[in-house]
Amino acid sequence: TLLDDTPKPLAGKRAIVTSGPTHEPIDPVRYIANRSSGKQGHAIAASLARLGAEVTLVSGPVTIPDPAGVTVIRVESAADMLEAVTSALPADIAVFVAAVADWRVAAASGEKIKKQPGEGPAPLELTENPDILKTIGHHENRPKLVVGFAAETSDVISSAQAKLARKGADFIVANDVSPATGIMGGDRNRVRIVSSDGVEDWPDLSKAEVADRLAARIAEAF
Ligand code: CTP
Ligand code: CA
Repeated sequence: TLLDDTPKPLAGKRAIVTSGPTHEPIDPVRYIANRSSGKQGHAIAASLARLGAEVTLVSGPVTIPDPAGVTVIRVESAADMLEAVTSALPADIAVFVAAVADWRVAAASGEKIKKQPGEGPAPLELTENPDILKTIGHHENRPKLVVGFAAETSDVISSAQAKLARKGADFIVANDVSPATGIMGGDRNRVRIVSSDGVEDWPDLSKAEVADRLAARIAEAF
């Protein structure tokens, strides 16, 4: 707004953020998906934009509103998300918050699959989806700063450290999303930042506060 006098340390920088789930079709009326509200990813896109970055938000299907001041590209599947992210390169910053489905149906049906009375359901053959973070983390046009997320229900830090190395990220935002935490779908988040410098514990914060702190942390790298 006209009254926004926030400093713009990311002015002139381009950022890509992925958010939300992906939907992998089974047939025209059914899909496989992860749980994800998009709240954390959308908040990060908004925070980066407030710091002056030119942000492209690649969002899977979500019900929350588009954040202000960002370009939103809507996708359904992981394959479409990878295509949209690659098309948005080059960028200085990429933050992968989306809960991408790890598998898709190998051969989605063009027609609705009908129940066959007396016969059980046909098994679904799955195939692995592309890993978007890993692809961009090792891309010839790799953004200077690549950030991933790791939502875990056990071994949070060791899993995040393994992902940091495997995916070519500069840091991984790790959290414990066990149902008892209420993080999934809720408005709060408790994260740890895992990088080659070690592990940083952040307090319990709103998702908006996590987004602002992460954007500020990203701005320090420039
Ligand atoms: N990610 C991605 N593309 C995928 C899978 C994951 O971009 N196909 C990104 C997520 O957006 C997140 C990070 O990779 O930033 C970690 O996702 P996660 O699901 O925790 O990692 P996986 O490698 O899929 O491992 P697993 O699900 O087995 O824990
Ligand atoms: Ca996964």
